Amino acid sequence: SEGPLVDRFGRPHHDLRISLTDRCSLRCTYCMPAEGVPWLARSTMLSTDEIVRVARVGVELGITEIRLTGGEPLLRVDVVDVVRRLTALTGPHGSAEVSLTTNALRLPALASPLRDAGLSRVNVSLDTLDRGKFIELTRRDKLVETLAGLAAADAAGLHPVKINAVAMRGVNDDEVVALTRFAVDRGYQMRFIEQMPLDGGHTWDRTQMVTQGEILDRLTSAFTLTEVPGRGAAPAELWYVDGGPQTVGVIASVTAPFCAACDRLRLTADGQLRACLFAQDEVDVRAVVRDEALDDGAVADAFRRCLAGKKAGHGIGEPTFRQPDRPMSAIGG
Ligand code: GTP
Ligand code: 5AD
Ligand code: SF4
Repeated sequence: SEGPLVDRFGRPHHDLRISLTDRCSLRCTYCMPAEGVPWLARSTMLSTDEIVRVARVGVELGITEIRLTGGEPLLRVDVVDVVRRLTALTGPHGSAEVSLTTNALRLPALASPLRDAGLSRVNVSLDTLDRGKFIELTRRDKLVETLAGLAAADAAGLHPVKINAVAMRGVNDDEVVALTRFAVDRGYQMRFIEQMPLDGGHTWDRTQMVTQGEILDRLTSAFTLTEVPGRGAAPAELWYVDGGPQTVGVIASVTAPFCAACDRLRLTADGQLRACLFAQDEVDVRAVVRDEALDDGAVADAFRRCLAGKKAGHGIGEPTFRQPDRPMSAIGG
């Protein structure tokens, strides 16, 4: 049951994004309504043994990068253990690199233990440096704690520390330069993200979205940017800031989709394999790992079935496009 994870468009897959929980300690407006979303039932959520088993088969099939997401992945009580067990997995290309995308609130306590468990690096979601806007946007008064988490990641050596900001018109689009300076001064990589149609309220509107072009206009008003070559399958296009070595990035999923180079698969916290953020179909690998009659070959088949249904691209803007039923917090970003 070995074999490379290549889809029908010839794309090899090396990256597995695993959502550890759909719960979150913030309520970002672009992700969730204030009251939250109907959470996944505990009985449907994969145990740590089940996650490690699915990941082990993935690594044996050629996965080399594992990204832990949420919701907020650090809310999973045994996250350090999960990291330790995932970094120990080996496949044909050696062991997988394990990294994490987080809101940083628990990093003051967890950055060092995570590093010791083998975590490589973290990406921190931070959309604004203004306390009032932070409260408006996340519905929680936690800017100081988020900044402390960022500093803790840096101090623990989880490098490179990257910051993700979803660009939002009239909210933080005037902070593009300030956020970039903040990051450059501290040696972090700032990345701006075009908002995708994944919001809980289904209110996304392409004409309202802040585009890569606008973000670059803001950046070039303050900095000299020179393109960093060798992007590969990374969603972010990078530029050196004022000659480098610091870089700033834009993730332009809507105006400049990178689907042709996509190398990602996703595992939701309730054990569904997804070929794309925007996939309508999922493969139920939870049912496979909970069926005692099925072995790892069946888990590998689940990966292959998922890949077989993968589309060429996300299709945003096409007449048949439909936003996925699952909220962002239950897909993992
Ligand atoms: P790095 O490995 O550090 O480059 O991380 P990353 O950018 O791949 O992951 P991260 O979790 O930090 O996500 C940053 C942004 O990219 C978020 O808005 C994600 O939703 C988005 N993103 C991640 N993977 C994909 C993808 O496969 N397709 C699209 N369209 N967006 C993605
Ligand atoms: N579009 C783009 N990025 C989003 N994120 C959350 N919702 C969206 C959206 N609708 C980002 C978060 C986090 C990452 C995992 O996804 O800011 O950094
Ligand atoms: Fe939580 Fe991330 Fe969603 Fe914000 S974007 S509510 S931090 S899962």
